[in-house]
Amino acid sequence: MQEQIRFVLSRPRMEKGPRKVLIIGASTGYGLATRIAAAFGARAETVGVFFERPADEDRTASAGWYNSAFFEEEAEKAGLRAWSLNGDAFSDPVKADTLALLRKTTGPVDLVIYSLAAPRRGMHTSVLRPIGHEYTNKTVNFQTGQVYETTVPPASEDEIAGTVAVMGGEDWQLWIEALLRAELLAPGAMTVAYSYIGSSVTAAIYREGTIGKAKEHLEATARSLDAKLLSLGGRAYVAVNKAVVTLASAAIPFVPLYIGILYQVMKDKGTHEGCIEQMDRLLRERLYRDGGSPVDDAGRIRLDEKELDPAIQKEVEARWKRVTTENLPQLVDLDGYRKELSRICGFDFPQVNYAADIDPNIAIPSLR
Ligand code: NAI
Repeated sequence: MQEQIRFVLSRPRMEKGPRKVLIIGASTGYGLATRIAAAFGARAETVGVFFERPADEDRTASAGWYNSAFFEEEAEKAGLRAWSLNGDAFSDPVKADTLALLRKTTGPVDLVIYSLAAPRRGMHTSVLRPIGHEYTNKTVNFQTGQVYETTVPPASEDEIAGTVAVMGGEDWQLWIEALLRAELLAPGAMTVAYSYIGSSVTAAIYREGTIGKAKEHLEATARSLDAKLLSLGGRAYVAVNKAVVTLASAAIPFVPLYIGILYQVMKDKGTHEGCIEQMDRLLRERLYRDGGSPVDDAGRIRLDEKELDPAIQKEVEARWKRVTTENLPQLVDLDGYRKELSRICGFDFPQVNYAADIDPNIAIPSLR
């Protein structure tokens, strides 16, 4: 968190940027980075919605809980207004509570970020599977460094429909319609949801798989929401982000090995980015740039151009073919991947004394 805040503060202050932002999925990964970029980069007021677990007697809280507590503390020190809401964003009560919170605090918002990554929504479950055929490819156990083949069975029709219901655009649409009805979208308000395309190496499991169907639905929803926001002078976009290590991406078959190779190749070329670099670019060079954001033929904002650079992809594909347990350390950013996965949960920081006794019960100030 400190590193991300420091990165944003090292950039010139955004002259144009969001003023009041609602972030749905604000506690980790891309949503958290967007919150940091909007608050510390543009001095925006932020309301963050997330689903995290506070500490109880014998368990620490989840990482996103501590992130959100720390975000609010740092925001307050910097004179930035911030509120949080912890609960299931897919549910009606949490939507209603968020509207009430906005009425009491920021009033109408001018940017709504939709950054949920979830395994289920109500009775629907999301699965990460190929469609139409089973799929076999290499994978890695990052704990042991072993590369081996694994096979993922194809999804059933119900599983495809379930994944679209969880990770597609339906819930995003419900949020935007509820905000519109409540007159909590300011004139010119924008909304952005995050998508992924990726490489030929991950196509069968990602873009052509169940999650790809959900992303297609999300992208179609952006087009219909865009039409709905026209009367407000607003816009709805999907932003296609780069593959990064997050709690969500770690759970996708084959993707961690792809990310490990990609990180090494992009670091070697000096084009590697994490969540915060991209979310800073999203605000500065896309959403709030004069003349509006550039988009691709399908109307999507693209932040994945460095990942999909043909020279990068060519090298990733070549390494993917060659990688084995033996040459893993040469071809894959094994340490980088492991370290990042630890660090998103607060581990692997040399300045932290992990043996020190601490009280894990930390409150999120606005939830007290
Ligand atoms: P993440 O796991 O780091 O963050 C997910 C967020 O959603 C957290 O704040 C979590 O608390 C919240 N959340 C989950 N279920 C919730 C619920 N029921 N109610 C309220 N909040 C809930 O995930 P990440 O990777 O940042 O993903 C965010 C979006 O970015 C997703 O749409 C993902 O597909 C997209 N994306 C991710 C990429 C990656 O490589 N990680 C690449 C491109 C897009």
